[in-house]
Amino acid sequence: MQSTLLVLTCVISAVAALGQRNDEPSPVVAARQAVVTPPPCAPIVPEPTEEETEARHDAFANAFLVTKNLTNAFEYISSTYINHNPFAEDGPDAALDFLGPVWPGIQITVLRTKFQGDQGWLNYQASGIGTVVDRFRWESGCIVEHWDVGEVYPEDES
Ligand SMILES: *[C@@H]1O[C@H](CO)[C@@H](O)[C@H](O)[C@H]1NC(C)=O
Repeated sequence: MQSTLLVLTCVISAVAALGQRNDEPSPVVAARQAVVTPPPCAPIVPEPTEEETEARHDAFANAFLVTKNLTNAFEYISSTYINHNPFAEDGPDAALDFLGPVWPGIQITVLRTKFQGDQGWLNYQASGIGTVVDRFRWESGCIVEHWDVGEVYPEDES
């Protein structure tokens, strides 16, 4: 299993390096401007049930992996979002800056998704990256934390 962000960092560095020409806007900046940043997710009061949060997790997964609409996906990300990847900064803006330029060019195959308690998992294949497991913690209907280094997809107990 590989880290999405680690590989994407290399892609971004390569794209950024290509952009270092005199007075041409860098392709990273141009692509970033194409992604509309939504307002951050507003905490829902009273706290949604696990079922309601699971429905939001499913909608987030669909936006992030199937329609690949980052504006829609980031409507579920809190302004206090903590990214537990050593190569990524916290906050939705850093994540959008990072994903915006590369996400449209990556082919995604969804393998499975799961929600349990207050956490959701996504397991997918991403072209040029490999098999990814993302784990998200939800609070008041919003994603507040993310892990993607060495995550193991939880198997159903039987
Ligand atoms: C992407 O999502 C945003 C926010 O939900 C929506 O306004 C926009 O129309 C969507 N874009 C496309 C191409 O569907």
